[in-house]
Amino acid sequence: MATILHITAHPHDHQTSYSMAVGKAFIDAYREANPNDEVIPIDLYKISIPHIDADVFSGWGKLRSGQEFTSLSKEEQAKVARLGELTDQFVAADKYVFVTPMWNFSFPPIMKAYIDSICMAGKTFKYTESGPVGLLPGKKALHIQSRGGVYSEGPAAAMEMGHRYIGIIMSFIGITDFQGLFIEGTNQFADRAQQIKEEAIAKAKDLAKSF
Ligand SMILES: Cc1cc2nc3c(=O)[nH]c(=O)nc-3n(C[C@H](O)[C@H](O)[C@H](O)COP(=O)(O)O)c2cc1C
Repeated sequence: MATILHITAHPHDHQTSYSMAVGKAFIDAYREANPNDEVIPIDLYKISIPHIDADVFSGWGKLRSGQEFTSLSKEEQAKVARLGELTDQFVAADKYVFVTPMWNFSFPPIMKAYIDSICMAGKTFKYTESGPVGLLPGKKALHIQSRGGVYSEGPAAAMEMGHRYIGIIMSFIGITDFQGLFIEGTNQFADRAQQIKEEAIAKAKDLAKSF
């Protein structure tokens, strides 16, 4: 039995958002193909994700200098503990589906906050003499994203920084099996947007059978 995290970074649901609709089609088909797997939905707009702020730095600093967790302030304890929970939940899973819309060539800022919560030295990567090493080999991830224009090929490809960035983070923590599924041109080809969405849903259902 595998555990798959369905991580969504969108303020809207599948009825309004192309990304969320394709993400839902994928996860529904995945559930059908893998009835014994555990699917954990993580709505980044609804859960608490501490930003790495002064409390987090001071809390981490105290722990590093050997102080007990209970000696941290209430704020430090809450934020450090919550970040640890998010990292542990990520480490315990086997597969990941990220769902984001393209916003300003990448993704919504809440996704960056989540990435900051899962890149933790000693848990998802470690430093060695020859550089950092990812600690999550053998896991796999998919990024589903809707975009107003086309970035998987053509002149705008170099401007795409969201999927590329998530891919770099995955590889940094040891997850090299990473792919993308894009709903592209929803604004550029507005008259065909519904068809573009339907094609992506068909691809998502197909991909879910072997993911
Ligand atoms: C804040 C914001 C920023 C956006 N930035 C881009 C962009 O950089 N490039 C692009 O092609 N489309 C951009 N779009 C358009 C969306 O990517 C596009 O409408 C996409 O289909 C939205 O997916 P959704 O239906 O899942 O929200 C932006 C939309 C918003 C709301």
